[in-house]
Amino acid sequence: MTNKTDRIIIFDTTLRDGEQCPGATLNIDEKLVIAKQLARLGVDIIEAGFAYASPGDFEAVSKIAKIVGTENGPVICSLARAIKADIEAAAEALKPAVNARIHTFISTSDIHLEYQLRKSRAEVLAIAQEMVAYAKSFMTDVEFSPMDAARTDPEFLYQVLEGAIAAGATTVNIPDTVGYTTPSEFGAIIKGIIENVPNIDQAIISVHGHNDLGLAVANFLEAVKNGARQLECTINGIGERAGNASLEELVMALHVRRQYFNPYLGRPVDSQESLTNIDTRQIYKTSRLVSNLTGMLVQANKAIVGANAFAHESGIHQDGVLKNRLTYEIMDAKLIGLTDNQIVLGKHSGRNAFRTRLKELGFELSDTELNKAFVRFKDVADKKKEISDWDLEAIVNDEIQQAPDLFRVELVQVSCGSNARPTATVTLRTPNGEELTDAAIGTGPVDAVYKAINRVVNVPNELIEFSVQSVTGGIDALGEVTIRLRYESRVFSGHAANTDIIVASAQAYVNALNRLYSALQSQEKQEEVSAQKV
Ligand code: KIV
Ligand code: ZN
Repeated sequence: MTNKTDRIIIFDTTLRDGEQCPGATLNIDEKLVIAKQLARLGVDIIEAGFAYASPGDFEAVSKIAKIVGTENGPVICSLARAIKADIEAAAEALKPAVNARIHTFISTSDIHLEYQLRKSRAEVLAIAQEMVAYAKSFMTDVEFSPMDAARTDPEFLYQVLEGAIAAGATTVNIPDTVGYTTPSEFGAIIKGIIENVPNIDQAIISVHGHNDLGLAVANFLEAVKNGARQLECTINGIGERAGNASLEELVMALHVRRQYFNPYLGRPVDSQESLTNIDTRQIYKTSRLVSNLTGMLVQANKAIVGANAFAHESGIHQDGVLKNRLTYEIMDAKLIGLTDNQIVLGKHSGRNAFRTRLKELGFELSDTELNKAFVRFKDVADKKKEISDWDLEAIVNDEIQQAPDLFRVELVQVSCGSNARPTATVTLRTPNGEELTDAAIGTGPVDAVYKAINRVVNVPNELIEFSVQSVTGGIDALGEVTIRLRYESRVFSGHAANTDIIVASAQAYVNALNRLYSALQSQEKQEEVSAQKV
């Protein structure tokens, strides 16, 4: 293998580093839904999780390896510390994948060595080599990351990389773990590696970076110019702290500006060939799916996928765009899969028309999912005359989300107004099938509903984020509610769409409570198992 590939490899870590951000926790079925969509998007490698971290992580990696890691599918990867037990768990979980990769890492910066690892450079060098060789005994595709590489002494970095490649690493990843570097600095680090690591031609150079200073994407593009050929990124840029480099921004920068980047990849300036394998028309849908399932909202002015990314507000801009789109637009919204939001279906549309339009929009649903979505569609169409593509997308995303079905909202009724004390009555079906009704007074109708729900569910929590967005314009629009709540130090999210925003609010809250409740149940089970072992 050589680091001179003439295209950019996209390594998606939404399900590993992305999921590490507070509240973005996904269950196994949700991870699988996202992994399938990432495969449709065309990512080359899916980092499906950290198999050793928990039984749930192990199962998710293993399930994705089996279902998505097919012959023509992406490479499925698991993260592993440079520790034998981690590497063994990764190898075991990845067994069902046709193409699998172990990604092992150890810190190399002096600050991490001194305060976190409490090991000498010589010890770290030896561990890196030994553990890469150990990973190699399970599979040929092994990636090694010297964590905090951007703050590592370059001479030591070269030494560790040389050792890892000699031990069998086929990809060496250079993480800017704390989001500290700047574009020219990062470019120089990659250049230095190419010039000073004697066996670098036997590995692909990858980059990984966090967005603490908002520079992750710029850093990666500079790294590409200097020889990096794999980019580790996440959908919507989610991840630890300020997140990771965003996949959609990187891919579209490389696509829109391919004439600029072509020569760095040894291509003719005018080559129209794509620099990545990504099907850009799947970008918007993937972004919405990840946002809905993780509860991580996309800011309106976010590049590429934000609600305002293609909106022109000022008169001068609107005038220009009407005369010729290219006056103020550098890319067509259709390129990322944003449709014209046609009004397509209505109350009289049948299952066939529904199925056909979903197919055209790129949704591949199982029969059960289709049936569930169709029932919802009929319900929405009864209240809303015209159903657009965006409504359909919201309905499907809502129906295929996999929040555990423990408590279910059976009834929500509110009474509120300028001279009334907001009062809510709710009926929930509990996990053991009982129907419980309670009522509460609140500062507003949503507060009253949440108080009534809390009286039934009875798990203390703090609501930390509540957001309502309308899917389309119009008074009868579907409202999407996203909430995040905190239980001790953990954050759980919930999402729901309905023409009635009070009902959507109740459903989103119950979704989040179901995630919390299910986490408490698994914690209890684990504690029971540990108690039995003692
Ligand atoms: O940020 C980081 O350094 C990481 C490594 C595990 C690659 O996520
Ligand atoms: Zn990271």
